[in-house]
Amino acid sequence: MEHVYLDYSASTPVDKRVIESMLPYFRSKYGNASSIHKFGRDAKGAIERARSYISMLLKAAPEEVFFTSGGTESDNWAIIGYALKNSEKGKHIVTSVIEHPAVIKACKYLETVGFEVSYVDVEPDGKLDLEKIRNAVRPDTILFSFMHINNEIGNIYPLEDIGNIARENDIVFHTDAVQGFGKVALDVNRMNIDLLSLSSHKIYGPKGVGALYIRSGIELGRHIHGGSNEKNMRAGTENTPGIVGLGTAAKLCRSEIKKEAETLTGLRNYFWERMQEDIPGVKLNGLLENRLPGNLNTSIMDVDMESVLLSLDLHGIAVSSGSACAAGGVEPSPVIKALKLPPEYGDSAIRWTLGRFTSKEEIDYTLKILKEVVDRINGL
Ligand SMILES: Cc1ncc(COP(=O)(O)O)c(C=O)c1O
Repeated sequence: MEHVYLDYSASTPVDKRVIESMLPYFRSKYGNASSIHKFGRDAKGAIERARSYISMLLKAAPEEVFFTSGGTESDNWAIIGYALKNSEKGKHIVTSVIEHPAVIKACKYLETVGFEVSYVDVEPDGKLDLEKIRNAVRPDTILFSFMHINNEIGNIYPLEDIGNIARENDIVFHTDAVQGFGKVALDVNRMNIDLLSLSSHKIYGPKGVGALYIRSGIELGRHIHGGSNEKNMRAGTENTPGIVGLGTAAKLCRSEIKKEAETLTGLRNYFWERMQEDIPGVKLNGLLENRLPGNLNTSIMDVDMESVLLSLDLHGIAVSSGSACAAGGVEPSPVIKALKLPPEYGDSAIRWTLGRFTSKEEIDYTLKILKEVVDRINGL
């Protein structure tokens, strides 16, 4: 097999149907969405259709969806934008230690300008203890930021329960739903979510585009100054082809979400069962139940997963150690560190993420190569 891509949580191939839908907005419908002539109106119409496809997946109103350049920008805008605009209400934020760097570093920035942030720890299986969240609340807490699904271990977090704690305490609730949007059902009203970040390139859409859901009535600072785009909140000519691509990707996810989740859960469980049979000392990081359908994250006793990853790469198999944003560094990922693995696993882990185009043949090939690689490392 020439190559096997098992890194869908880092990024996904763009679905052909998404590319098709984008092409007219490069070729003939290239107007600026702010222009009043037909070219402008065509672009504007396409942007509004994309907004409504996204809102349907969130069970939100289209006017509550704002386009951005991706998950990172959405996280920054939500957290910094809300905190700076509402600092007179309080200067305390609660988040967790396993958030994506886009959340952690936005919080770290706020600490440099006078905010205080509590980082709630996780249990060894990556679960969040709701009591710890409740105990972190203070009279001056204005914002919660807890992710929907962890990008490394794939745990799905109980947003409805966290949202209830936020509501009971009059705290605004942001969730980074970059890994779950389009894959696991979301409902901003049932879950009491006020702000939600999502990204296109995790759902078979193009890179460099995403969105932030802002519940009507929640006030955020304007974070890009200039023209009056996105209701005067985020200036800059809209990336029409990218937004159209995100909209199509969201529409496809909406029609396929259930079936795709079932297929991926089946394939992922098969992968894990076979891995346990073939690889002695293999350990699953995170929960098996309540996990992103295509995600596995494993460590192997006394085996450095970084060298496994490099050997797999030589065989054309693409996986990730930690998150893509943390890859390349020798430091263990903060998420894996937070699980406090027994020392024989050495804080090293591989994330295998399956997606829409993964086949059983690719999984069988990966299992065969993995066994060969681990046997060689173990001197067998
Ligand atoms: C949980 C999570 N949040 C945010 C991001 C950043 O999204 P983007 O790549 O669109 O900036 C990622 C990307 O890996 C992610 O997994």
